[in-house]
Amino acid sequence: MTEESLSQEHRTFQPDPAFAARANGTADMYTEADADFEAFWAKQARHYVTWAKDFDQTLDWSGAPFAKWFVGGELNVAYNCLDRHVENGLGDRVAIHFEGEPGDTRTLTYADLHREVCKAANAFEALGLKKGDTVAIYLPMIPEAAIAMLACARIGAPHSVVFGGFSAEALHTRILDADSKLVITADGGFRRGAPSALKPAVDAALEHGEHPVQKVVVIQRTKQETAMVEGRDVWWHDIVDGASEEHTAQPHDSEHPLFILYTSGTTGKPKGIFHTSGGYLTQVAYTNSVVHDVHPDSDVFWCTADVGWVTGHSYIVYGPLANGATQLMYEGTPDTPHQGRWWELIQKYQVSVLYTAPTAIRTCMKWGHEIPMKFDLSSLRLLGSVGEPINPEAWLWYRKYIGGDKAPIVDTWWQTETGAIMISPLPGVTTLEPGSAQKPIPGVSAEILDDEGQPLTEAEKVGYLVLTKPWPAMLRGIWGDPERYKETYWSRFGEKYYFAGDGAKYDKDGNIWLLGRVDDVMNVSGHRLSTTEIESALVSHPHVAEAAVVGASDETTGQAVCAFVILRLGGEHQTDDNEDIITELRNHVAKEIGPIAKPRQIMIVPELPKTRSGKIMRRLLKDVAENREMGDVTTLTDSSVMSLIKSGMASGATE
Ligand code: WT7
Repeated sequence: MTEESLSQEHRTFQPDPAFAARANGTADMYTEADADFEAFWAKQARHYVTWAKDFDQTLDWSGAPFAKWFVGGELNVAYNCLDRHVENGLGDRVAIHFEGEPGDTRTLTYADLHREVCKAANAFEALGLKKGDTVAIYLPMIPEAAIAMLACARIGAPHSVVFGGFSAEALHTRILDADSKLVITADGGFRRGAPSALKPAVDAALEHGEHPVQKVVVIQRTKQETAMVEGRDVWWHDIVDGASEEHTAQPHDSEHPLFILYTSGTTGKPKGIFHTSGGYLTQVAYTNSVVHDVHPDSDVFWCTADVGWVTGHSYIVYGPLANGATQLMYEGTPDTPHQGRWWELIQKYQVSVLYTAPTAIRTCMKWGHEIPMKFDLSSLRLLGSVGEPINPEAWLWYRKYIGGDKAPIVDTWWQTETGAIMISPLPGVTTLEPGSAQKPIPGVSAEILDDEGQPLTEAEKVGYLVLTKPWPAMLRGIWGDPERYKETYWSRFGEKYYFAGDGAKYDKDGNIWLLGRVDDVMNVSGHRLSTTEIESALVSHPHVAEAAVVGASDETTGQAVCAFVILRLGGEHQTDDNEDIITELRNHVAKEIGPIAKPRQIMIVPELPKTRSGKIMRRLLKDVAENREMGDVTTLTDSSVMSLIKSGMASGATE
């Protein structure tokens, strides 16, 4: 079959009996969870987590939408990820195979990781860190990222990991919002074959005047020249290497905050999503077991995400380590030094379960299947997808060329807010439907509602995805803003429904198909970006009068950022020669938010299409950006605006 014809015929894939016989997930789980979902979760909590003190109530929903799970229970998350495995005689099992981008490697067993986390916890405490203080972590993909997170969890100091690709500005607002006393960073990381500095961004973030930061701990990774601020900055190796290896993990309340993670919403200000301990750990460990089907004694699991995103939190750090699994952690990009790097790593470490994003799969498809075919990928027995809808073509390519035409694929839908996987097939149980995330996992309940909030039952009708019952790993709120939490997630369809912000439909077999965001959130390469946030960044440039941003569909990245900008300088810049200003604006967005938010395309326009009430009609701009025939323009104040924009399109700069 050629690649073009892979998806021509509709195929489904039944579980392989040999796979099913060993699978962690079973069909019975659906019936069990349906019969009594609280009892089901209580059972998972006691199975996957070791409690210092057992809980006496499974769920307290009396303060809805503010949930408490496993009430009265006490645990230490780091103890669950480390100490108990060592106590169970698994200290010699590899926890992390690390491969740096330049090819340097490190192997950390559970005993090693436990020791490093204890040392880091002692060192952080010696700096004055206490339970309840928040810590900003701004690091490349190196083992110290996991070590720092676990050390914080051990102390009970919620971490706020800021993706290393975010700018100094973004780091600054996150430090302020979470009131972080400590920052953990590195001199830099390796990116596309060269060292890339990180520490200067921390310095810039802290030059903004008032801030709560007392100490900055710096890991030496690239050994590049790094300025250290006297009295504030300390080297990791100076404080951690000599610290004691003994550290007793104190139990924390089940609802003690574990971390804050910022994500884009519909307004300009990122939301600090916060998660707590017992419920989160239960669901990440359970899903890593039944969805990724990880068998800790035999699998090598590789989640290609960065720890700066929720996927890295849940499926590099907490889920797999709670289960005592062996993982691969890789610092770099898939094409450095060559386009077969990922497949080479799978062959080298005998990776058996791979979890990655559709954008990566589509990129590899573009590079051609000849590249993965040069490597032995026969160790792979299960593939996962996350972050955006996976189109059937990419699904079938993934199965054929990466999965050897046999590995099941789990398309997993979830969010920063849900903390863990929510909708996904169970491998070994579900008959797979390429392109669909299919069904809520056992313990989770979802529905699709129409505009009026009525549940849809008919196939192919498009509506809004909602979750109808609380779940253990659910966000507990937006840090410091309980009202925004209620308003954003629990008001669109009343207080009984969690509004996910995604469009969805059922097919005739009752499978759920996710159709992308219904709000002003874009999904670029599986990363969430807000149109408003990028518009604010553009407008903060002195030359910009007005800006409108849309997510236009893109073959590789899912969506791409397209901006329409009116300049302040009147006619002067409205010529064909806008290259300089466009470059400047793209860099400005990178500086304000981060390189991931750089618009693919910026159009300098004389006007923006607006309704009579002054609302920008993004739908029309999207049509233009996607080269579609224009939609209905009858509500426009001046429909000639659109032809002006369209005719100017040809001169818009593209990356
Ligand atoms: C949004 C959440 C979950 C970790 C990575 C992203 C989209 C996520 C899928 C999927 C279709 C998906 C949704 C969701 N999304 N997974 N399997 N199929 N869409 O986390 O940054 O919080 O983004 O990603 O639109 O709302 P996030």
